[in-house]
Amino acid sequence: MVHLVERGPIADESLRPIGEGGLLLQGELIYRVGAFSDLRLEAETLQATIIELTEDFVALPGFIDVHTHICFAGSRAQDYALRNAGKTYLEIAAAGGGIWDSVQQTRRADQAELTRLTVQRATRHLRGGVTTIEVKSGYGLSVAEELKQLRAIKEADSQTAADLVATCLAAHTLPRDYAGTPEAYLAEMAAQLLPQLKQEQLTNRVDAFLEQGAFSAAQIAPYFAEARRLGFQLTVHADQFSAFGSRVAVEAGALSADHLEASSDDEIRLLAGSPTVAVALPGASLGLGCNFAPARRLLDAGASLAIASDWNPGSAPMGDLLTQAAILGTFEKLTAAEVLAGITCRAARALDLADRGRLVAGLLADFVLFPTADYAEILYQQGQLRPAQVWKNGRCVHPSPARA
Ligand code: NIG
Ligand code: FE
Repeated sequence: MVHLVERGPIADESLRPIGEGGLLLQGELIYRVGAFSDLRLEAETLQATIIELTEDFVALPGFIDVHTHICFAGSRAQDYALRNAGKTYLEIAAAGGGIWDSVQQTRRADQAELTRLTVQRATRHLRGGVTTIEVKSGYGLSVAEELKQLRAIKEADSQTAADLVATCLAAHTLPRDYAGTPEAYLAEMAAQLLPQLKQEQLTNRVDAFLEQGAFSAAQIAPYFAEARRLGFQLTVHADQFSAFGSRVAVEAGALSADHLEASSDDEIRLLAGSPTVAVALPGASLGLGCNFAPARRLLDAGASLAIASDWNPGSAPMGDLLTQAAILGTFEKLTAAEVLAGITCRAARALDLADRGRLVAGLLADFVLFPTADYAEILYQQGQLRPAQVWKNGRCVHPSPARA
């Protein structure tokens, strides 16, 4: 497929699939993409390996999920039942359920258990074609417990073929056992946690949940300023229920503003005029039973749109990126090109990863093979057409070589 524009609408006509195409790999990189007959000649001269596929396959770049919370223990099935019985997400949180419940369950797990659970979920994602997974902390909410989560994520990264991109979400909500003000909590995290993250190379990304019941724009400003000073990249949980986070994201130069279910024309304009990538999280809309982010209007205004799963125990328990992206496409009237760009090349921008997200020479050989001759089948089947093979860094990781 061709190079897709970085922002704004994309017509499906701009996707020009290569018929009888193939990929030539060298080590962990893509060496050439083109017609299979040309590649075969080149492979012979280079004595490179060429993989001949006997059936019809469509190759897509490995999917990139730019927003997950898969490092957690326990379940919040009870919250789901309460919501369906009429309570709101914010009411459940205020009554001591919600994020705080997951914090307590996650604190009870040790680091090895969190590693195991994260690897288990990453493996499920990998089988679905997701080769790069952002993973947030945010269920620790003390210096020691946030470190435990981020060390578990680093350890999990070394135990899965997927690349895990860690993000510190110590600014998820004020923990109920913290005796001071939100300002004091954030100052403590900025002073004691952020430098330690740099020292142990646990992450270079910082996120915050900007919402009533979480943190305000004024509260987060000094925390973000310190994070930036220390060299962290920023991302924001923005405009989920109240629309003020995207302005903070844009003004702070965040890589992405995620959620956006409550964004209005003002926020859409703001995001469209900025380099900040807008991230829709359809899994959170499906988990909470609320409206989707205004993906169509964001694209029409000229924004760059990525789509992520938000996989977490509370608002987005499903954790199936392809299904959710396909469903968002049907509700928001997105072209296949826009949906696929949202989980590949535009997602790579949201994580500032220039080495992946497209099938072009020189980038990582991360790709997914779907068992179909027509790429339109992939979204049409709304996640039920599963990858036949998943390749990461030039190696087939699913089915695992032992089982292939
Ligand atoms: O992205 N909105 C805040 N944080 C997560 C939910 C976390 C949770 O409910 O445990 C989200 O939806
Ligand atoms: Fe989230």
